[in-house]
Amino acid sequence: ELAKGVNGLDKLVLREFRGSSAEVYLYGGHVTSWKNDHGEELLFVSSKAIYKPPKAIRGGIPICFPQFGSLGPLEQHGFARNRFWAVDTDPPPFPTPTYRAFVDLILKPSEEDIKIWPHSYEFRLRVALGPGGDLMLTSRIRNTNTDGKPFTFTFAYHTYFSVSDISEVRVEGLETLDYFDNLKNRERFTEQGDAITFESEVDKIYLSTPTKIAILDHEKKRTFVIRKDGLPDAVVWNPWDKKAKAISDFGDDEYKHMLCVEAAAIEKPITLKPGEEWKGRQELSAVPSSYCSGQ
Ligand code: BG6
Repeated sequence: ELAKGVNGLDKLVLREFRGSSAEVYLYGGHVTSWKNDHGEELLFVSSKAIYKPPKAIRGGIPICFPQFGSLGPLEQHGFARNRFWAVDTDPPPFPTPTYRAFVDLILKPSEEDIKIWPHSYEFRLRVALGPGGDLMLTSRIRNTNTDGKPFTFTFAYHTYFSVSDISEVRVEGLETLDYFDNLKNRERFTEQGDAITFESEVDKIYLSTPTKIAILDHEKKRTFVIRKDGLPDAVVWNPWDKKAKAISDFGDDEYKHMLCVEAAAIEKPITLKPGEEWKGRQELSAVPSSYCSGQ
């Protein structure tokens, strides 16, 4: 159902019959809310978020395309997150009948966009809510260039998870992996054996990660499970106190209540020839954890 969001921006609300819900802004193709069947919000959105172009909404799930980060000629994280997407009112059916609540958003370049990134594409973002309240995002990007040229891009679902206290959180699935540390000139390191915990600023790109990553929130007794496909890398980001103060659309203490774990394709950029399509999927679930081992 179409509704009005902050600043009168259009948003779509998905509801699943057991009570879970999600909201997607057409601005950015940006998921800003995902609630479980108890009505609890599972994503973090800053109280200082600015819902106005050209600033992307701070929180939720920004789409980073066609460039992750600042390595490249485009603005940081590309431009998809600050463009207006269109709703496909006649989308292809869902392959499995269980996922009934979904919406397809489409992004195509404007004439202005082609001046910035000289390629033609169709980006179809499907946001679906499963019967258990799982949130599934599927991106299909097709090269529609008519000049015969391939294009290359990097990508991330820049997901901001809501956590009770960052100091009590750990991430499982990334131990022993190699990563680029954005805080150390993108130098390559290898993670040690233990689950990842947080006590200072983190900005790392883990490489060739497993298809499943878990975020354990000890205090909330909740575990987020990220399942991904076509997205080998995973960014882990928390600005901590100092960086938080420097981000104008982010509250000084909000770093305590968020963690970004971003399913991504960064190290090996994706190249598509005309007519080719790439698919990248992320499925999120939030499950109660009866106990947190090792704490
Ligand atoms: C992360 C990057 O993905 O996004 C960080 O690794 C960056 O370096 C962060 O600071 C936030 O980026 P932005 O552009 O939304 O402020």
